Amino acid sequence: MSDLKEHLTQRCQLVDAALERFIPSAETRPVTLHHAMRHSVFAGGKRLRPILCLAAAEACGGSVEAAIFNACATECLHTYSLIHDDLPCMDDDDMRRGVPTCHKVYGEAMALLAGDALQALAFELVTKTPATANHTTASMVLELARTAGSLHLVGGQVADLEGEGKQLPLDDLRFIHEGKTAALLTTSVKLGAMSANASAAQMQALHDFGMATGLAFQIIDDILDVTQTSEKLGKSAGKDIAAEKSTYPALMGLEASRAEAHRLTEVSHRALDVFGAASSRLRQLSDYLLNRDY
Ligand code: IPE
Ligand code: IPE
Ligand code: MG
Ligand code: MG
Ligand code: MG
Repeated sequence: MSDLKEHLTQRCQLVDAALERFIPSAETRPVTLHHAMRHSVFAGGKRLRPILCLAAAEACGGSVEAAIFNACATECLHTYSLIHDDLPCMDDDDMRRGVPTCHKVYGEAMALLAGDALQALAFELVTKTPATANHTTASMVLELARTAGSLHLVGGQVADLEGEGKQLPLDDLRFIHEGKTAALLTTSVKLGAMSANASAAQMQALHDFGMATGLAFQIIDDILDVTQTSEKLGKSAGKDIAAEKSTYPALMGLEASRAEAHRLTEVSHRALDVFGAASSRLRQLSDYLLNRDY
């Protein structure tokens, strides 16, 4: 097995074991709610945000032990955003992570509430990360709160919905993608770095890395929606055209979209120069995100 593949497998297992400890068991009341939360979290998922969080912590000289709460927080927030993204009032999707979406199995009200509870759990987990000399608990909570809110993730989702049926200018599309996707990827690496007492220069470098990698990530998601099968993706393909979404391929075509994702990946690598060899894993991960096929 290649070094990266082995790393991804090991980190997925580590993150899953931690999530298993942090999310109430399926026997905990109300059992339907905890079943619904666990259905979406443990259906699979690439665990890219926690893996990036842990890699950033290590690039800053930190440990998995200190970063694991923040790592799992990013996955809980991400999974909440997917559950809500799939609701009939949003993207109306039937399949996610290779299984029926949360609302298909548990109904809309329960899916909504499972998402709400996962979002709250994300913040609870951030408070469990030990504070460091440069980063208080409040500053870590603030980092996640800003990203989750109306200026970033939720704001991006709103602009995404309002953009349906329109051909948006590239600048607006970039705003959507940075908000709905790049912001949480960026916060994932920054929360890892904060657990490792990162310096201001390291935080800035990881911000630039996260924004470039995150935008490239959503461009690739748009490309895969057009080029891959639902079976491969574990979610319904071709949904963006059906919903008349503004996407990079719709706006500039597949080749130019691929070229833009490549360019952004190069930008992300340059942002890591301050780390030297300590950032080799992050570089490897941003290359992997660019070249992924699901
Ligand atoms: C899907 O994210 C939603 C986007 C922000 C593009 P992922 O592709 O990381 O989904 P999972 O976590 O592996 O299911
Ligand atoms: C999802 O974007 C972004 C968030 C969930 C915040 P998409 O709507 O493109 O994600 P998929 O394609 O359904 O995974
Ligand atoms: Mg969406
Ligand atoms: Mg969607
Ligand atoms: Mg998509």
